[in-house]
Amino acid sequence: NEIKIFSPATVANVACGFDVLGFCLDSVGDDMVIRKTDKKGIFITKIEGGFDLPYETELNVAGVSALAMYEAIKPDFGFEIEINKKIKPGSGIGSSAASAVGSVFGMNELLGRPYNKTQLTEFAVKGEALASKCEHADNLAPALFGGFTLVKSMSPLEILQIPSPNDLYATIIHPQIEVKTSEARAILPKEVPLSHAITQWANFGSLIHALHTSDFELIKRSLNDVIVEPYRSQLIPHYYEVKSEVIRVGALGAGISGSGPSIFSLSKGLETANNVKDAMHKVYAKTGINFDIHVSKIN
Ligand code: HSE
Repeated sequence: NEIKIFSPATVANVACGFDVLGFCLDSVGDDMVIRKTDKKGIFITKIEGGFDLPYETELNVAGVSALAMYEAIKPDFGFEIEINKKIKPGSGIGSSAASAVGSVFGMNELLGRPYNKTQLTEFAVKGEALASKCEHADNLAPALFGGFTLVKSMSPLEILQIPSPNDLYATIIHPQIEVKTSEARAILPKEVPLSHAITQWANFGSLIHALHTSDFELIKRSLNDVIVEPYRSQLIPHYYEVKSEVIRVGALGAGISGSGPSIFSLSKGLETANNVKDAMHKVYAKTGINFDIHVSKIN
């Protein structure tokens, strides 16, 4: 009647895949407990982690996605949700997505898995929308499916799982400044020049091909973003310095993680991923901004 789950952090966009591509991290995430109760309804009963998050079900991301699923099933019992939030809200590694996904995943397990992962993503979109003020699934899908995912369409929701090379690692630095997704979206242009669109979809197609064929050299040449990065990079101190330093020590490339301020980098092999960690550390240690860095294998 109770399940403990790990709800992983995720990196959305992955440079050229704004709003559609994402991957899952295995070393960072929230712990959650979902419990069946006799009392009908969805109740957030515990929030740990030191962040100021609401207990009201309708105002809590995990609560809203749970309610969406609950209303679809209308059971004669309820659920309690405990959240041990380890992913800082506003960090750019899918904090709201982890909450939104965790509650519905846990409920689905307790109910004997009536829904598939795409259907769970659909419920979780409701919670995610509360946090970012728009419906996007590029953090939700990798949190539920693992690895790399591509959101082929939102309506109807269609998610593709993309394979990735065995030896692919991510290094993520999280500078502890807050960038709100809604604000990071508001500064983006509504239209893009055709020449930029062409570059972007060539890179995006190439990246997907490179992931399928384990072509690290092509991953390296495809990790570019000419549409979003020029705007959002202004919100992240020392962004371009981090990027050039990680590439200098052997990373395949780097980009803004989701809406920032986290910066992700991809590497072939753990050793390079750790060198990237040191390089990120060096750049940020002199800024006076607090930060943390994670290395994660992409499965
Ligand atoms: N694709 C979304 C964005 C992810 O970049 O705004 C937000 O986490």
